This record gives sequence, structure tokens and C-alpha cells, in this order.
Amino acid sequence: MQVVHNKLCLSGLEAETLLREFGSPLYVYEAEVLRERFRAFQAAFPENVHLHYAMKANSNPTLLRLLQQEGAWIDAVSPLEVRLALDAGFAPERILFTGNNSAPDELDYCIAKGVPVNLGSLEALRRYGERYPGTEASVRVNPGMGAGHHSHCITGGPASKFGIYHDRVATALKIATQNRIRIIGVHSHIGTGIYAPEPMLAAMELVLQASRGFPELRFIDFGGGFGIPHRPEQTPLDLPELGRQMQERFSSFCSEYGRPLTMKLEPGRFIVGPAGILLVTTTNFTDTPDYRFVGVDSGFNHLVRPTMYGAYHHILNASRSTGPEQEVVIAGNICESGDIFSRSEEGMTRKIPEIQVGDCLALCDAGAYGMSMSSQYNTRPRPAEVLVENGQARLIRHRETYEDVIAPFNTEP
Ligand code: LLP
Repeated sequence: MQVVHNKLCLSGLEAETLLREFGSPLYVYEAEVLRERFRAFQAAFPENVHLHYAMKANSNPTLLRLLQQEGAWIDAVSPLEVRLALDAGFAPERILFTGNNSAPDELDYCIAKGVPVNLGSLEALRRYGERYPGTEASVRVNPGMGAGHHSHCITGGPASKFGIYHDRVATALKIATQNRIRIIGVHSHIGTGIYAPEPMLAAMELVLQASRGFPELRFIDFGGGFGIPHRPEQTPLDLPELGRQMQERFSSFCSEYGRPLTMKLEPGRFIVGPAGILLVTTTNFTDTPDYRFVGVDSGFNHLVRPTMYGAYHHILNASRSTGPEQEVVIAGNICESGDIFSRSEEGMTRKIPEIQVGDCLALCDAGAYGMSMSSQYNTRPRPAEVLVENGQARLIRHRETYEDVIAPFNTEP
């Protein structure tokens, strides 16, 4: 992303030109950034660490294929995610299925496809053991602590529904033994949008402690959660340093355990977040005594993070990057007053170079949990997605049409 002659460009293409060609609103992904992010992660964890891309962050098949070519593995959460990953060329053994409240048919599907399953409760382990005695599985452990950018996004500790609580691992081993299930992996994921190394390292210690109880391990998976700077002034997580510390600790654990184990990680946001941007067009102004609302042609149906978590997304005027700034509210076109893109913990206004109707605005770092959490609320179709690379743009998902919206319904009178 750069500014050329006051206009925002992606891979050398003006954002405004992309909107003219593909329509508005539009998700745009930069292939180079996606590759760089994956490579940077791999460089921070060079010692044969399996990076399972958390495809819930963004499951566009073109992006999956690109990451498959880079050597990614997959963290999948539903049978259709597994299917998408298989279709994108991932070998079954490179996928780890970590379902939530999985019904038997979800596990049956994974087993039939040869995809390893990760079980997140004693109940799931018991049922799995009865159905597939004599096989292997991994277990998700709740290390008793969590972290994340919002309370909805903390997935460890006593208030979390995920995983076998760490004080119950002996029972897990007993249940597994009864059904001749070999526990070959321990998994955990404490939350998402973590900006400091401390919670990661503290959780790692607790997960290692819980892992000691399982004698037949081949891997330990510490999940994802690696945060990205959403604000220009924010300091990024020092991933190389975190990688060094985690790998050092892991190798000392392996010596103590008596066998080399594989470390697995499941980054989603870190890989794809900065590679994507949502471009929207300004269509309206509304003034009150307190605020100037700038209305755009998209809303929380396309990017729900500001509304759902008060999550900050940096907003640029892609049509004029400099000029006198105005303090404004960037409002979506959904019939709810919470539909504010400029919302964050501090309030709902931003200072942006003066916006005119027709200007293109860019919501930055929207590649993760943007399109993948979108909906058709207000019967507004989802936007198109485009991949840019070497000055070329390619449509990788068409803009939904009335036909796409109506397809699931029985329209017979
Ligand atoms: N592994 C597991 C088991 C997960 O549940 C998740 C995310 C990840 C890995 C990847 O986490 P990441 O590296 O992307 O932080 N909608 C929220 C994020 C929810 C994440 C859910 N699980 C948001 O927009 O902030």
C-alpha cells in the first residue's frame, strides 16, 4: 500500500480505479503482503514448526491456495472448512480439525477424509473413544488463563467454554486409555489479538505442564492469537524475539520429556489481517449539533469488528491522502445506530482529510475476520474480493447478486 500523487495505491493500482473496475464496496488483498507475512512468521519459528493457518480468519480459496504453496498447514473448525482446505490442495494430514461442540457426523467426516481431530472436552473424548477405539487423537487443554483484545475473544481460563481444564488431564488420559486412544498431541489457544509476549509465554508454561501427563505425544500446539498493530502508532509484537524464547523453552521441554516433539502454531490474523483492505465509497453526510456523519455504501454486514468489539480499524481517504483534516464519524448503511466504522475504545470520531461525496475510503487491516464474518443483513449482498499482484488485479469472489441471495429459499407460492 502506498500513496502516489495523493491517491492510495495497492500493488501499483489506484484504489479508485479498482472500485471503478470491480464496483464498490470491495475487499482487496495484496498477494505480496500475504506471502511476506507468512514468511516472516516462518522466519521467526525456523525450527520445523508447523504453521497451521487458522482459516476462520479468511477462507477464500485463492488465498488458501497461495498459503498452501508457501508451505502452510491448516487449522479448521468445521467440516466445510476441512472440505475447502482439501479442495485448495492441502493434504489431509496437514489439517487439524478443532471443532466446537462437534456432532458425531463432523468427526465421522474428518476420519473418513483422514484428517486428524483435536478433542476439546472430556465428553467429546469419551464419545470419540467409544466410536473409534484403537485410534489416535489430540486434546485441547484449557491452561487456566486467557488473553485477548476483547472479552469475547478470550478462550482460556475458568470463564471459557474451550478445552479440557488443565486440572483434569489425568481423567482425560484415563478415558483415552479405556478406549485404547493414543493421545499424540496437546493443543491450546488462549485467545486472539494478543500484543504482548508475556501471556503467550505464561500459557505455554502451563500447557507444557499439562503435557507432562501424556506419555505418547508427538506434538504440542500453542494455537494462534498473535496480534497486529491496528493503529499507526502501535508497536508490533516482537515476533522474532517471542519465537526465539518459545523455541528455546520448547527444546528444553523436549529434552526433559525425553523425545523431540513438533511445535505447532495456528496464526490467522497475523498472516492475513494486514494483507486485506475494505474499500468503500462515500454516499452521504448527516450533521447534528455534535457530529458530522459521513455515510458510506457498506456497513457492519461487511466488516463487523468495530461494531462487535469496538475494534479500531485505521481509515484512510484513498481519494485524497492529504488536505485539511475534519473530525467525522464514518457510518455504515445498515439500519442500526451501532453501525459505525470509526468506532473504537476512545469514541466514534476520526480526523481524516476532508471527505467529499464519491470519495473512496479504505478500512485498513481488514483481511482477517472481515469477509469471513460478513452477512447479508438488511438483504445487502456481500462485496466482491480482488487479489492484486504485480500491478494486476484478479477477481477472486464475485459480488453477490439477487440470485445468490434468493438461492437458498423455497420461493414456491
Ligand atoms: N486457533 C484456534 C483454535 C482459534 O480458535 C483461533 C481463533 C485461532 C487459532 C486463530 O487466532 P488468530 O491468530 O487469528 O488470533 N472474530 C475475532 C477473532 C476470533 C478468533 C477465533 N479463534 C476478531 O475479529 O477479532
